[in-house]
Amino acid sequence: MKDIVYFDAAASFLKPESVITTEVDFLKNRYANAGRGVCARAGAVDEMVAAVRRRVADFINADSRQIVFTANATDGLNRIVNIIARRFDIAGFSVAVSDLDHHSARLPWAEMLDMGKIRKIEKCELDENFNIKIDSVPKSDVLVITAMSNVLGVSQDVAAICRAARKKNPNVITVVDATQYIVHHKIDVKKWDCDFLVASGHKIGADTGVGILYIRDADKYMPDKLGGGMVLRIDGDMAIWNNSPDRFEAGTLPLTQICGLSVAIDELESHRPDLKLIKYMYDELKKNPRIKILSSRDAALMTFVVDNMHPLDVGAMLGANNICVRVGNMCASWVHRVLGIDGSIRVSVGPWNTRQDADKFLSVMNKIVK
Ligand SMILES: Cc1ncc(COP(=O)(O)O)c(C=O)c1O
Repeated sequence: MKDIVYFDAAASFLKPESVITTEVDFLKNRYANAGRGVCARAGAVDEMVAAVRRRVADFINADSRQIVFTANATDGLNRIVNIIARRFDIAGFSVAVSDLDHHSARLPWAEMLDMGKIRKIEKCELDENFNIKIDSVPKSDVLVITAMSNVLGVSQDVAAICRAARKKNPNVITVVDATQYIVHHKIDVKKWDCDFLVASGHKIGADTGVGILYIRDADKYMPDKLGGGMVLRIDGDMAIWNNSPDRFEAGTLPLTQICGLSVAIDELESHRPDLKLIKYMYDELKKNPRIKILSSRDAALMTFVVDNMHPLDVGAMLGANNICVRVGNMCASWVHRVLGIDGSIRVSVGPWNTRQDADKFLSVMNKIVK
């Protein structure tokens, strides 16, 4: 499918050849389980997992012991709720969210509220550019920050938001959804001074099935999943847990996907998506009076609606011309509600995209939207 223009990197990245060959080689020649064997082959898999963990830690300026492998960002965001709930009595908790949040970041807390397990959910105010208003960050016990909106591509000043929240409550627990941000920017969790952070492997060129969860004070939290690989010893019916990260990694890890993850990070660090393409398409699309672009020119992606055309129809017509984009609410209903619409069309680029891809998209758009 060589003539496909894949403008849907923000939904899932295409996989660099080096990730594919690394995973194939692992499956064919090096496969064994981790943390359970004493033979050299199993030991090599343990070392591989440890090396990838170090690579991930280095990628976000964390310590290896703070990095937990999950299934994806959604898994991490759901687990954070349970991990916090096991350590604290959350009945009186107020949780601050924002309308930029992906469903995965906010619904687990909304469900807690619905079940009467937390006291309230408050919202961070947004300014006219969809930045979280730092001066009015609410006082809360937990603050969820979407570092980059998957609809508008706006990056937040996470360090300043965490600082503002901590001024209001020194014990606030800050949770950063870095799923989109990590694609375009270097992350330094120490500078951000956040408590939790999540990302998805498949959105940075790794395989599906592996996610990254950073927990600052990992050993202070109790495991949320129990099973093999996380027990130090059994005392009667009870267990003494391993330290982090093992205590958060019950069961067999997604080893093949972990193997590809460090290669994907190497690739991403040397070839970030070229956002000049977004600016180019923005400038060209803006000339069409029937198209309303919702994102800003310097955003990491471009989202728009077309006058008198349903986003699904636009997506289907682009698809019929071999151009893949994302349409709909993008699992971010709240920001669409703020914008007064049900859905939109999103163009996002990866390192594989070229100026020719942009020109093909623009020429098809010119035919569809006269
Ligand atoms: C900002 C943001 N958070 C979380 C997610 C969920 O990611 P995943 O489906 O990989 O769990 C997405 C996916 O689009 C996202 O864009």
